Amino acid sequence: MDNSQSILEKLKSYKQEHIINFLEKIDIVKRKNLIEQLEKIDFNQLQELYKNTQKEIKIKENKIESIQYLDKEKLTKNQLDNFNFLGESIIINGQYAVVTMAGGQGTRLGHTGPKGTFKLDVYGKGKYLFEILAENLKEANNKYNVIIPWYIMTSEENNEETKQFLEKNNYFGYDKNNVMLFKQGELPLLDTKGKLLIGKDFKIKEASDGNGGVFASLRITGMLADMKERGIKWVFIGGVDNAILKMVDTTLLGMAIDKNVQIASKSVVKANPQEKVGVFCKMNGHPKVIEYSELPEKMAEEVDENGELKLGESHIMCNLFTIDAIEKISKEPLIYHSAFKKNSYIDENGKEIIPNEPNSYKFEAFIFDSFELFDDIAILRGKREDDFAPVKNREGVDSPKTAKELYEKYWEKQKVQVLK
Ligand code: UD1
Repeated sequence: MDNSQSILEKLKSYKQEHIINFLEKIDIVKRKNLIEQLEKIDFNQLQELYKNTQKEIKIKENKIESIQYLDKEKLTKNQLDNFNFLGESIIINGQYAVVTMAGGQGTRLGHTGPKGTFKLDVYGKGKYLFEILAENLKEANNKYNVIIPWYIMTSEENNEETKQFLEKNNYFGYDKNNVMLFKQGELPLLDTKGKLLIGKDFKIKEASDGNGGVFASLRITGMLADMKERGIKWVFIGGVDNAILKMVDTTLLGMAIDKNVQIASKSVVKANPQEKVGVFCKMNGHPKVIEYSELPEKMAEEVDENGELKLGESHIMCNLFTIDAIEKISKEPLIYHSAFKKNSYIDENGKEIIPNEPNSYKFEAFIFDSFELFDDIAILRGKREDDFAPVKNREGVDSPKTAKELYEKYWEKQKVQVLK
């Protein structure tokens, strides 16, 4: 352990002595691997993250205002034409790229494997979520006679499986040379005393650093440089779990260009105060999303003079950024939110402990925490039936059943419109 002295000292000063004891008990190969992993850990950051778990998140109501938005339904013909013209020219000039954040697993759906490999039971045969996204992009490619570069963010946990799945399905007919997979980062888990956990594989337990990790990962993995080389100016970043997500919306893009802002987002009206979506607002004059898990009930229920929810614009994970905005955000530390979860680990005797109750914190950055780095955002209010068919829960709201209905209804409507 000669060259590992500094790690041992670090472990001691950050009160992680249990890892030192553990290192003494394992064989030389495992010890080497563990030390290598420890060398990459930012202990100072972990200490801060742990401290934050002990603080309550307080949202100061008096600093919050409703957000400005434009309703797509209410745009004049001139506005609509102008936005579409501006948006289309970016796409036709090959200056548009799409990022799909697919680091998550389908656990909440009861699906083992990457969420994008979940098959939605639509039109008899069914379609995988990745297939639905690929079809959406291929349609835009045909319309504008381009090939939009498609970047897919995976995680340490699902990268290999995602790659194999897409290979096996021939990238659902997407031009393979324009599909780039990149991995998001990870952060260690901490127990209630701020101690690192060790897994069955004799490594420190880590988990994906949240969808806000997308910016730094794009830079670190060289994807941002790749985008720049291709002359990309605007990047759409979306999730993998909305069956009618519009990844190429010229109105949203044109609106952002027209308003001369660096970020834009599509919203829909929040269905009810309890709906599990983030909501847009302005805090201290900057655009912000408050996540459903952090929004106090009283604020969620507040209505304005028209009887509409004050915080009623939902974040549907349909976001646009300029390439410069991505570069800027990728160099700024975003805040991390902690989630208290059940995680198995091995104790000092090497015995695996599978907890029945949450025992440790997972740290995640949220994509929308980047919004407050900017003065303004362009928000376009879309329509739920045209823009949002989330696939989140196994049953009930936002389930495969509700998404299938929304998906089929949406495509029926498109067919009728084409026939008109
Ligand atoms: C998310 C939004 C919420 C929004 C809702 C709309 C966040 C934190 N919350 O909620 O504001 O109203 O979508 O559907 O963004 N992902 C990764 N890596 C990760 C974590 C997530 O790639 O480490 C991806 C998932 O694969 C998925 C997307 O991010 O495509 C959102 O998933 P999740 O973080 O589970 O957020 P939701 O609770 O669905």
